[in-house]
Amino acid sequence: MSNTSYKEDLQHPVFGVVSEASAALGLESYVIGGFVRDLILGRENKKDIDIVAVGSGIALAQQVADMLPRKPKVQVFKNYGTAMLRFEDTDIEFVGARKESYQSESRNPVVENGTLEDDQDRRDFTINALALSLNRDNFGTLLDPFNGLKDLESKIIRTPLNPDITYSDDPLRMLRAIRFATQLGFDIEAESLVSISKNKERINIISGERIVDELNKILSVKKPSTGFILLYKTGLLDLILPELTALNQVEEIEGHTHKNNFYHTLEVVDNISENTEDVWLRWAALLHDIGKAPTKRFFKKQGWTFHGHEFVGGKMVKKIFERLHMPLNQKMKFVQKMVMMSSRPIVLSQEIVTDSAVRRLVFDAGEDVENLMTLCEADITTKNAIKFKKYHQNFDLVRRKIVEVEERDQVRNFQPPVTGEEIMEIFNLKPSREIGILKEAIKEAILEGEIPNEYEAAYQFMMEKAEKMGLKTM
Ligand code: CTP
Repeated sequence: MSNTSYKEDLQHPVFGVVSEASAALGLESYVIGGFVRDLILGRENKKDIDIVAVGSGIALAQQVADMLPRKPKVQVFKNYGTAMLRFEDTDIEFVGARKESYQSESRNPVVENGTLEDDQDRRDFTINALALSLNRDNFGTLLDPFNGLKDLESKIIRTPLNPDITYSDDPLRMLRAIRFATQLGFDIEAESLVSISKNKERINIISGERIVDELNKILSVKKPSTGFILLYKTGLLDLILPELTALNQVEEIEGHTHKNNFYHTLEVVDNISENTEDVWLRWAALLHDIGKAPTKRFFKKQGWTFHGHEFVGGKMVKKIFERLHMPLNQKMKFVQKMVMMSSRPIVLSQEIVTDSAVRRLVFDAGEDVENLMTLCEADITTKNAIKFKKYHQNFDLVRRKIVEVEERDQVRNFQPPVTGEEIMEIFNLKPSREIGILKEAIKEAILEGEIPNEYEAAYQFMMEKAEKMGLKTM
């Protein structure tokens, strides 16, 4: 890391072309930001390169495109003074070096042309302000006015300017600081942390979409709790997801306490992250207990209860997705369903596991039954070793039974073996209550294991039931 020429690392063919194009236009250009950071860290090279030109970034992009084989299309964002092109599988973004000052109520900067240093000044972190020259005379030289290299070595997130200016200019950076700290395993410099706490309210001018982008990145790391604890300590979490911070309390009445559901939740998120990369399932883990704050009650006999918290939590999921402008599609429905069903397998695993209970679980969870099991296993955070073992053993049993029951009865995508139309025809009925009663009785008999999920058995059962109801065939 001490060598400051990275010529050998700039092998991507586009760098040579940018260098030639810059010379042709008589301007300087540099590769900057995440690409340089990740290159020095030896992190997997992401397919995204940022180029800064001391001059017009748009003109440079066009010149580069002209010189590349097959002349890729240049996308120009005039308002931002940026341009982008795609070469092979890499997105290359061009921007003119800028001096910026931000207006207090928006993220839209007032932009003036500037030098490379001006541009580095206005970047978020020293580790993201590292630039490598693409100019012929010093190709590959590192330009590091803020000791970003040293911060990379000592694993520190630090802002180039006074953090109050950097964060207040663009409050999204407060989340980015926490995200980078979590992703890279870095510490946020103390002054910066204080500044985030001080400026936290400015997160309110950031759109839900951008906030969620960062939350998703935090949720996608190996151990997401690190990020959520930082979000909590800086006060940002209370502004973004107050439903979670509401779980951070332990009350005691008459010697009865309940567990701290905030820290429990973080443990569940870390647990599930060992078993799934699916960010939506991780969201389900994050939100699975949010209904516990509004439903918490104390009764002399039972102690603390959270009756109906799954249902209340499910409703809260929708409100959160709406507030943060998250997709209100099947992803939201999935998270909601997981939250609503989150106690089902746990209850099962604490009791004797019967076939019919498993059949009902498969019936209700459908295609999502494996995900639900993954969530519920992650939910086992008991520190009692005997209970821990027992719950896991019961889960293994539930998993085995799910396979068995499914092979036999196929209730996962349950289709009634006798249809409503058929019932109407057999008993000469118009649409009526009786049809619903018969269909429900057949379904119940199958789920209870009284009859197999087969036409003949269902037909026979229906005829007996119909007779008891006084229905006559045609
Ligand atoms: N940047 C910034 N402030 C922001 C966003 C970005 O100063 N709010 C600068 C940083 O120099 C950053 C570069 O723009 O390195 C590119 O931003 P982006 O592509 O969002 O992030 P990367 O650093 O490339 O990292 P990642 O792709 O992991 O998000």
